[in-house]
Amino acid sequence: MKWRIDELTLVPGGPLSEQWVGVHNAASRALWGEGAPVLTVEELLDIAPRRAEHRRAFALWASEGDLLAGGGGDAPVAVAQTIQHERDNTETAGVSHSVHPDHQRRGHGSRLLEHCEWLLREAGCARIHDHADSPDESGGSATAFALAHGYRLTQTHVSQDLSLPVSGETLAALDPRLDPAAYVVETAVDALPEEWLEDRALLARRMSTDAPTGDIDLDEQEWDAERVRQQWNTPSPIWAVESVVRHVPSGRLVGFTDIVVRPGDPRRAVQTDTLVLREHRGNALGLALKVANLRALQREKPDVTAVRTWNADTNVHMIAINERLGFRPTGWSREWAKDL
Ligand SMILES: CC(C)(COP(=O)(O)OP(=O)(O)OC[C@H]1O[C@@H](n2cnc3c(N)ncnc32)[C@H](O)[C@@H]1OP(=O)(O)O)[C@@H](O)C(=O)NCCC(=O)NCCS
Repeated sequence: MKWRIDELTLVPGGPLSEQWVGVHNAASRALWGEGAPVLTVEELLDIAPRRAEHRRAFALWASEGDLLAGGGGDAPVAVAQTIQHERDNTETAGVSHSVHPDHQRRGHGSRLLEHCEWLLREAGCARIHDHADSPDESGGSATAFALAHGYRLTQTHVSQDLSLPVSGETLAALDPRLDPAAYVVETAVDALPEEWLEDRALLARRMSTDAPTGDIDLDEQEWDAERVRQQWNTPSPIWAVESVVRHVPSGRLVGFTDIVVRPGDPRRAVQTDTLVLREHRGNALGLALKVANLRALQREKPDVTAVRTWNADTNVHMIAINERLGFRPTGWSREWAKDL
């Protein structure tokens, strides 16, 4: 079989870029069916500078005979992206890759992964750490593929979905009603107030080590107000709502939670980070934050029909809060690592 791998520059609306993202989406649809998450070029191009990442896109073309057998045109059969971090853990890189469902199990995934591993090694990266999602508890083909390529499992996450809307009565019943002399919740839509940023940087720093990281050593991330501004307050196709909890006696922010709506999935929101500083845990702040943020999401984006969240399977407290809110399991995500 003849094949070749090219690097591409992703461009919104570019025909090749759309084919590239189309392979990711076809592989995802084959796994998840109609409810598959949809990736867009627009989102990928937005994420990299806001997260201080250097991303490179690759595509693998196979010989005409192979393409005809799969019924495709002159399109790539496998696609990948390497992700190098420009701040924190710069020697640890990510790789995400997908093989079109009509072309799987022909070695294309292996060829492309080996190419990405080689490039990352040449670029000075010491290891790869990334994840693969599956509706199947075993992790399906991605698990077999990762093990076949010498990756080790570092952590498993459970994904859970909450159907919206959650009624006002249910939210009122769950709301822990914080003592306003001790804690107040504040909410911001699509950008964070300037006066939050210093405290928010400390919360982001703690988030990088306090959430379970599994069987891998990662350095604490360095955050300052400017980095928070770059990630959250620069124009983006990703919509976000954040709630924070303020400790009234000190005036400091001691917890936060975020929900985002990605351009490819305008009806399914994604719960991203949640953290309460250790010193303030045990006061129902996590539940208060989640209730407030869900209320804001429902008010601002009434067309959203579900929220998806991921939690390390060891994170029993967060999973318990999510179950009280009505989240139900929908799949699993495994993190894999390999020293280069
Ligand atoms: C995982 C994936 C990339 C594998 O690509 P592929 O081109 O089909 O894989 P290869 O043909 O190179 O397989 C290499 C080895 O992986 C293992 N493997 C791959 N798919 C497998 C499957 N469905 N069942 C069992 N083993 C499998 C086998 O050991 C295989 O070697 P073999 O065919 O000689 O037995 C592809 O299934 C895919 O795109 N899945 C959806 C997206 C995804 O999960 N991406 C990975 C995370 S970002």
